[in-house]
Amino acid sequence: MLVVIAVRTSFAVTQSSVCDTTPGLSESERAGCRIWIYATAADSRFHTYTAEQRLGVIADWFLVLHSTARDQRFKTWGLINDPDCCVPGTPNCPAKSLDETYGFDWCPGDEDLLKFVGKPGYRDPACDFKDAPLAKDDPHGPADQRQNPCDLAFGTSTGALGFRKFPNPRFNPAAWTKVNGHPGTWEGFGRKLSKDPSSPDSRISHISDGSIEPPFLVGMACGACHIAFDPVHPPTDPAHPRWANILPAIGNQYLHISEILAAGMTKNALEWQVFAHARPGTVDTSAEPNDQIDNAGTMNALLDLPRRPTFQEQVTKWRKVKACPAGANEDCWCEPGRTGKCWLRSTQTDTIMHILKDGADSIGPLEALQRVYLNIGSCSEQCWLNHLTDMRQLDPAQRNFGQTPFDIGQCRRDCPNFRAIEDRLADILTFLLSARANELYEARGLPDAGDLVEQLDGEFGAGAVSRGKRVFAANCARCHSSQPEPFDNRDFRETVGLDGGSIRKDFLSTDQPLLVSEIGTNRCRALHSNHMKGHVWDQYASDTYHARPPDPNLKEPDDGGRSYYRNLSLVSVWAHAPFMHNNGIGPEICGSDELYRSPYVDAQGKLLANPPACWPYDPSVAGRYKLFKASMHDLLYPKQRIPKTMKLDADIIVDFGPKIFGAQHAEGMTIRIPQGTNVGLMGNFQHKQFVIDLVLALTDQDTLRTKLAARVGPDKAKSDADDIHAIALEVLKSPTKMIDIVAARLPMLLELYSSCTDSVENDGHRFGEDLPDADKNALTAFLATL
Ligand code: HEC
Ligand code: HEC
Repeated sequence: MLVVIAVRTSFAVTQSSVCDTTPGLSESERAGCRIWIYATAADSRFHTYTAEQRLGVIADWFLVLHSTARDQRFKTWGLINDPDCCVPGTPNCPAKSLDETYGFDWCPGDEDLLKFVGKPGYRDPACDFKDAPLAKDDPHGPADQRQNPCDLAFGTSTGALGFRKFPNPRFNPAAWTKVNGHPGTWEGFGRKLSKDPSSPDSRISHISDGSIEPPFLVGMACGACHIAFDPVHPPTDPAHPRWANILPAIGNQYLHISEILAAGMTKNALEWQVFAHARPGTVDTSAEPNDQIDNAGTMNALLDLPRRPTFQEQVTKWRKVKACPAGANEDCWCEPGRTGKCWLRSTQTDTIMHILKDGADSIGPLEALQRVYLNIGSCSEQCWLNHLTDMRQLDPAQRNFGQTPFDIGQCRRDCPNFRAIEDRLADILTFLLSARANELYEARGLPDAGDLVEQLDGEFGAGAVSRGKRVFAANCARCHSSQPEPFDNRDFRETVGLDGGSIRKDFLSTDQPLLVSEIGTNRCRALHSNHMKGHVWDQYASDTYHARPPDPNLKEPDDGGRSYYRNLSLVSVWAHAPFMHNNGIGPEICGSDELYRSPYVDAQGKLLANPPACWPYDPSVAGRYKLFKASMHDLLYPKQRIPKTMKLDADIIVDFGPKIFGAQHAEGMTIRIPQGTNVGLMGNFQHKQFVIDLVLALTDQDTLRTKLAARVGPDKAKSDADDIHAIALEVLKSPTKMIDIVAARLPMLLELYSSCTDSVENDGHRFGEDLPDADKNALTAFLATL
């Protein structure tokens, strides 16, 4: 009997997590932690309906999360299993069959949730969220007027950390069983509607036609991409971690989140091929709010943030006030039903951090956190979707041909989930500020950092670490130290006191935005355009950002704040290989073969027949260290790097609508783009501008020439306009040959229409390449101590 009781408590009704097991968190940090790992702010609607039905990006949640593949989830997708969930029917699991859980894991809270599949009235666990006390100096206090916590929308775990499920009140068991056979599978729901490959229905399923309601809506919390294995306390078996093996904000280096979000698509879909090829641990966060730039970035570790350098910038944003000044009009708003809970928009000089790889989130760290909720789908229908580009809308006169700016004031008024998050941003931030460096010496079980130095000197040669430190001071510290020169004799690991504890003094980065041509790494991420004036995240960038001068060395459009990279912090860099914003420098890592594509090419850009093998995922201390050393070698010996360029691994089939040529339209046109094409070519090609110009070439040559002159100068504009005219005539004659016609003119078309022409993913950052081997060796030893 006793045994039964003990086992039951391991699947306790209350959700325990890293937020409960981490000692010493303050109330605010603990609240922020829970929001970080549980709150979806109702983005499940986006991930269940909107992405599929409006954006054409199809997530097949059952394919990714079905309980029978729980043990393979890490290897296949890089997902981290929730230690508190179990496979129905296994010993001690409260659920006895997959039919009870609709094929998912059973997780704490499901004893309530499952009762509401197909019924209204579910009470979200977030309703019982215990808020931390409101900060004493909060202008909206002293009364607690925060938005109802139910709107944080926690749901219960899906079995994979960060992914949350909600009961669908519109679920109809009879209709479901008819399509799927029995409740425990979603197989019929995800099956393609037609077996005939020539039919467009062969590329979609009930997931995107919306006629069958699934039992659950699935949403994402911030943890979905950021929760990761603890480098210092890794799991012995990555498929069965415990909470003690998990940290909330390292960034999951193994996650194939793009493939997860596109799992319901055929490989021939444009969106799949362009979207679902990012390296593990990276994702193009401007893929859904698409900016037609193929620019995945890593979900990087958020460590030692209190030491991250700040900057004074001119910022226009909404600020908390008690009342609106006279005559403020649309620049001020007070929430109805509250007293003195108002927001005033104003411009002033603020102290901000540069957030994101290019520093684009620059109106303040709180707003940067809030923006991500929107970016991952919260409030999408109320405030976001209407501002995005519809990739297939080719008529410039229509809404969604291009982006329009997301309106923060409108969203605050119209979306309760926005307010639920906004009112608690300070807790999320205090929580993120609490994460500290992960020390290799601790990971190795050594008493202190000195013992690690001894070990490293043993491995790299006597005095290697101190020699490496001198080399670092002379070659790297000007970008990778947050302290002023001189760097000689500096202890880069020095600690200072903070809130009763201590923190490393040096953030190991100036956090300055640097021109991408100076760094030389793949420039596509730096050309990100969503924060430009008039674009979707315009209101989340500072006026200073918008005024940054473009990089004089680039050919692509790079104005409006674009063309910069922040230098990454080297805190705990031993745990974060492969390197750079795109994980491009270092070995390729892989889980299952299914999702791995070798990107290694020869000097002509052709895929290598015998590429280096990928390195299987290994989150152990030794595994991370080995990957770090190999990546340091790639970093410091750039001439030995084998270039990487991601290629399409299947033909893409694009069904264009009839609008392409206005009156002379080519109805039902299907284009096939061959396997082997550079993914970047597709992802970066501004097809809308091209199509508009094709039409102009046929209808208004003068306007076309004026337009092109702005980009290539008057002389070239004439010959380019003639070429485009010739292409337009050819396409009219044989529309299905469009790709061949375009391919024959590629260099010229890319110059005109590519948002990023950089195809090599692991070039650049050649600092230190001319150092003697012994210095490089020493540098590697020293960086392992950081
Ligand atoms: C789909 C995966 C994904 C999810 C979910 C996600 N992030 Fe991220 N996050 C990323 C990626 C990728 C980056 C790096 C983006 C870039 O290239 O700059 C990032 C970067 C960040 C950064 C900035 C890092 C820095 O050092 O400048 C913050 C802060 C952040 N995320 C917060 C959040 C918050 C808050 C949430 C939840 C609302 C969240 N993230 C959810 C993928 C994700
Ligand atoms: C001019 C400034 C500059 C100098 C000098 C410089 N770096 Fe960097 N470093 C950067 C920038 C910028 C990035 C990020 C580039 C990117 O993401 O594409 C970076 C990234 C890195 C990374 C990758 C970190 C990660 O987590 O992926 C490592 C490692 C690194 N630098 C080491 C060094 C070393 C070692 C030296 C000296 C030999 C050095 N850097 C010199 C600017 C610099």
